[in-house]
Amino acid sequence: MKNIVILISGGGSNMKAILQTARDRDWEKRFGAKVSRVISNKQSALGLSIAEEFNVKTSVVEHLQYKEATNPREAFETELTKVIDQDAPELVVLAGFMRILTPQFVNHYEGRLINIHPSLLPAFTGLHTHARALEMGCRFAGVTVHRVTPELDHGPILAQAVVPVLKGDTESDLASRVLTQEHLIYPKVIEELLS
Ligand code: GAR
Repeated sequence: MKNIVILISGGGSNMKAILQTARDRDWEKRFGAKVSRVISNKQSALGLSIAEEFNVKTSVVEHLQYKEATNPREAFETELTKVIDQDAPELVVLAGFMRILTPQFVNHYEGRLINIHPSLLPAFTGLHTHARALEMGCRFAGVTVHRVTPELDHGPILAQAVVPVLKGDTESDLASRVLTQEHLIYPKVIEELLS
């Protein structure tokens, strides 16, 4: 069985879209693949209970638990890697996982680590992508799925979807228009990688 591990920090709507597609399109039978585990860096992440509804194992590795360590980021990632590697995953999917990852972590999962970012990369790396797109007067916005490399939000692009920015859009209007596309594009990319 090819294992897929999904990392989340919050609502987990992308994770849910992946789990729903995996179920609807029978990834186990078609690709011998399943989401083996969902990991959150926050105990309060709403996505954890959604994963449980899908009977997927969940784990929590809280980054804040390591804040007193000599090197907090490294200590957090050491534990995270341990939990991920239990499943020897074929793919590690960042789905709204809001931690910056070290080059060591990224290199450990080279070729297996993908991310979804709510902008048309290379525009608007980092945070507040929709507010920045509105501020710049962009006529189009969108989402990118990319391979993860050590430089933040810079890896090779696997897929993008474009949405229009409409007159009078608020940040949340634009975010929800983009999110609708995220839910379509991310499961599709994973399916392509599996096949
Ligand atoms: C999504 O919009 C995703 O693209 C974004 O966080 C949201 C998570 O939503 N990711 C990033 O900003 C990563 N830099 P979800 O928890 O409902 O999937």
